[in-house]
Amino acid sequence: MKNFISTMDWSQSKLQQILDLANQFKQGASSDALKGKSVGLLFFNPSLRTRTSFELGTWQMGGHAVVLEPGKSAWPIEFEPGTKMDGVTEEHIIEVAQVLSRYCDMIAIRAFPKFENWQDDRQDKVIKAFAKYASVPVINMETITHPCQELAHMQAIQSLIGQTKNKKYLLTWTYHPKPLNTAVANSSLLISTKFGMDVTLLCPTKDYILDERYIEAAKKQATENGGSFKITHDIEEAYAGADIVYAKSWGALPFFGNWESERIIRGNYKHFIVDEKKMAMTNNAKFSHCLPLRRNIKATDGVMDSDYCFAIDEAENRLHVQKALMAKLIE
Ligand code: CP
Repeated sequence: MKNFISTMDWSQSKLQQILDLANQFKQGASSDALKGKSVGLLFFNPSLRTRTSFELGTWQMGGHAVVLEPGKSAWPIEFEPGTKMDGVTEEHIIEVAQVLSRYCDMIAIRAFPKFENWQDDRQDKVIKAFAKYASVPVINMETITHPCQELAHMQAIQSLIGQTKNKKYLLTWTYHPKPLNTAVANSSLLISTKFGMDVTLLCPTKDYILDERYIEAAKKQATENGGSFKITHDIEEAYAGADIVYAKSWGALPFFGNWESERIIRGNYKHFIVDEKKMAMTNNAKFSHCLPLRRNIKATDGVMDSDYCFAIDEAENRLHVQKALMAKLIE
């Protein structure tokens, strides 16, 4: 596989090979897989973990990372084909992807949805355009999925509970004052079902159910890998017996472009916060979140500071899995 855009394109065994190499890196193995190589990191949105771990990971393997922020430190890019560019964009993706491919051995992209029209955002046009016009591997650093976070999450889960098949995995929606990207939630379903877990999606109402593409993929992967998948709006049912609890907030898809209406509805569900009482309903579950996280809004201090919270380990794993991924893609 040339690109790493979605884990849906990758088999469980190929993903496991990346995780195995990531475990070697975590245990101290070194690699010069990127010696003399360069990686272009394009950020259309802010980052702490992704930028730091990709830059350092490239350097640790002997390579050099160039960070570009289109529209800020680099020219704004046009993605519409055949358009008359008389607006704010200064160059077209057709040239950008080809030029960067002459300089860089890999290109990684962070491009969140615009949050105005989900039917448009779900097409993931930015990274698909890079994949179309670039001649080097393209890596997803979060668009409408976050596959690098998936790898870091699964590396942490495997180290905590070992065999994942038929372990109970809960993805719970949590409140946040702003509508957030569905990427990590989509990814949570993809990676947990890919590894045969018994997966529950907990969200307040049917409006918060994720895009059908990822719901259908979760069902299919659960069947293929010997796990299961269900959706519930019942908090007690969802937490009962869970082995892993993963939390994320996201905006309701039917309200894209109409966020004032969604904000009123979302405000009714602040009690979805992950707290000690809910965690007590589980099978001594481990808890994580991709970070950044607003404490005492998404999860309580008690949960975040507990010995069952593995959010920091998961964040550390971003470094190891991305090094493993880049080493595999450059082969
Ligand atoms: N989890 C994650 O991708 O963090 P950043 O947004 O800080 O990169």
